[in-house]
Amino acid sequence: MQIEKTAAGVRAQVKAWKKEGLSVGLVPTMGYLHEGHKSLIDRAAAENDRVVVSIFVNPIQFGPAEDLETYPRDLEADSKLCEQAGVSLIFAPEASEMYAEDFSTYVDAGKVTEELCGKSRPTHFRGVCTVVNKLFHIAAPDRAYFGQKDAQQLAVIRRMVRDLNMDLEIVGCPIIREEDGLAKSSRNTYLSEEERKAALVLSKAVFKAEEMAEGGEKDGEKILEAMRNIITAEPLARIDYVEMVRWDTIEVSRIIDGPTLIAIAVFIGKTRLIDNVLVRAAQ
Ligand code: PAF
Repeated sequence: MQIEKTAAGVRAQVKAWKKEGLSVGLVPTMGYLHEGHKSLIDRAAAENDRVVVSIFVNPIQFGPAEDLETYPRDLEADSKLCEQAGVSLIFAPEASEMYAEDFSTYVDAGKVTEELCGKSRPTHFRGVCTVVNKLFHIAAPDRAYFGQKDAQQLAVIRRMVRDLNMDLEIVGCPIIREEDGLAKSSRNTYLSEEERKAALVLSKAVFKAEEMAEGGEKDGEKILEAMRNIITAEPLARIDYVEMVRWDTIEVSRIIDGPTLIAIAVFIGKTRLIDNVLVRAAQ
């Protein structure tokens, strides 16, 4: 397994693979890899001849008061996981490799970025789209893999790829959960023991929403109210948002009449966690 620090190094290797007629799958990450990332890598390995994993804590997707400095990093452990999973190349650039001092070109996917996380993190998706766009140019993948846990991110990237005629397939992969239900996230490592227990309100709320929707409940207000009740019963939890949107447009909705994303962001102590479920109108 190769570890490349430069865009030129990645490009040269990918070019050589393409010359041999090999397909390339890209898994963009910010590192501190867990089983959620591993599931993306496994899928990429099953569907492509070569897998590239990018590991880059992208500064431009963090707001000024967010956790850029403290975001967990462990390239050694990440490399081990990647090697064992059959990754061919890790791209682990420094920020200076990705952003020139006078960097000034950004990608903005517009309206799909405005609700949910985009509301509380106004520059986040501009940073995500910009770096993902750069990674697509550098690694020229045939397919790129993203988790459904960051559902809005997945929708935003699909929109960007469609709008900018990018020639690759975006593959969305299911949320991977701990045994007790908590969605896997690198940020779970911030939680104290007490907070870890409290964090279960996220999955409980999401499972409740899923159960109600599957039972035929179409009234968004009723579902969101049931979710809020679960979360606010936990003293360590503070709601950022509990929301329902149309899956294709990420526009706020209060009726399940088609593919609908029910998504939440909740602070457990100082740690902001997200979770969601995608539901469809019962036939
Ligand atoms: O989901 C993430 O880890 C990041 O947002 C991504 C897609 C790697 C872009 O920095």
